[in-house]
Amino acid sequence: MSKLEDIVSLCKRRGFIFPGSEVYGGMAGTWDFGPLGVMLKNKITAAWWQFWVEQRDDMYGVDAAILMNPRTWEASGHVATFADPLVECKHCHGRFRADKLGSDIPESITSEEFQKLGVKCPTCGQSDWSEIRKFNMMFQTHVGPVSDDTSIAYLRPETAQGIFTNFKNVVDTIYPDLPFGIAQQGKAFRNEISPRDFILRDRECSQMEIEYFVHPDTWQGIFEQLLAEQHRFLEEVIGLPKERIHDYEVPATDRAHYSQRTVDIEFDYPNGREELMGIAYRTDFDLMNIQRASGKNMSYRDKHTGESFIPHVIEPSIGVERLLLAVLSAAYTEDEIDGSPRIVLKLPAQLAPYRFCVSPLLKNKPELVEKARTVYQQLRQKYTNVTWDDSGNIGKRYRKQDEIGTPACVVIDFDTLEDDTVTVRDRDTAQQTRVKIAEL
Ligand code: GAP
Repeated sequence: MSKLEDIVSLCKRRGFIFPGSEVYGGMAGTWDFGPLGVMLKNKITAAWWQFWVEQRDDMYGVDAAILMNPRTWEASGHVATFADPLVECKHCHGRFRADKLGSDIPESITSEEFQKLGVKCPTCGQSDWSEIRKFNMMFQTHVGPVSDDTSIAYLRPETAQGIFTNFKNVVDTIYPDLPFGIAQQGKAFRNEISPRDFILRDRECSQMEIEYFVHPDTWQGIFEQLLAEQHRFLEEVIGLPKERIHDYEVPATDRAHYSQRTVDIEFDYPNGREELMGIAYRTDFDLMNIQRASGKNMSYRDKHTGESFIPHVIEPSIGVERLLLAVLSAAYTEDEIDGSPRIVLKLPAQLAPYRFCVSPLLKNKPELVEKARTVYQQLRQKYTNVTWDDSGNIGKRYRKQDEIGTPACVVIDFDTLEDDTVTVRDRDTAQQTRVKIAEL
């Protein structure tokens, strides 16, 4: 399997992902997407939107504000309980998430249980720990010109609440039949104690979430259907290898405060198996809390049966960065072509930043360049994501396109001028075939 450092290095070298605010020494847990990274990210988010929203009749989109009335986070339980177990090494004062200091340590571990484990500090090797304290992960800010207790607001730690607070707006404007879902993509912010593993655990990330509203009696069957659909999305649309994807039934002690069942879908990343996404049964927890806190009636009236009730919710939630890292990890390959080593990103064609690269065999032959430009323009009319490359020699261009995952390179040579055929070189096999321009 590929190493994470190799993926990080490729991402930097080829303009996929850079450390956030790098010129000022960086900012832990933040990453900037470069030209190639933005293209890959946009394709992943578009594929998700198409699969979950556009191709279904029971899904509606929203795009809610990131800043929300702070009562949102009181009602949702985040102010009281969205916290990680923080422990400090008394020797070197390093601070860590207690449950990340060993593979079998639950999030709910108490100070007493933790002390007994004799865990060593990863920085200084001592085993002298403070009490575990709960550290709330929401970023606070102030809204307006006065910074006091009355102006506190939070950067949203999940996109989900922007969906719940719009539940009634969607019902009252679209009149959907139950079951139906509301989907949202957007930024979420978490003051993670230890951001790590490149873009796996960030302080600023993007989520793609669905709140699927169901009759309380039907949640079990629908949970299984949505779980199966998630696998179909990951394997068939995104092209992740099935054998690296695993379901994990999260035990009650480790579930989020709102969930009565959670299945994490995990992925075998270069540094080990980690949560890629989760699907949770949130019951009527959120709508009920909004009803209590706002005094607004959150019930849904079934037009067919006349029954009124608060719907229950199943929530598939996935982080864009985690999905993107899974895609990169699955695609990153080192192999040999004609005895020389190369790095190649075997991205599925539908996700590759560029579908084709067009070049003249020789840059200093105007007749080849002119013909190549014509072919380039023709392809651009069919596909938006075609790139032009006439730098270096042809071998170097192939290596560069392999590293950014371009599935096919189209090369215009002297034969093209005679018979209107081009060489198409396949990224994965490096095989070259002659194809008529009209058939490209
Ligand atoms: N609304 C439910 C929710 O937010 P979560 O398990 O805390 O649940 C959902 O987060 C998904 O968001 C995770 O499975 C992961 O893909 C992504 N995610 C959460 N925290 C993240 C972080 N700090 N960095 C990157 N992705 C994160």
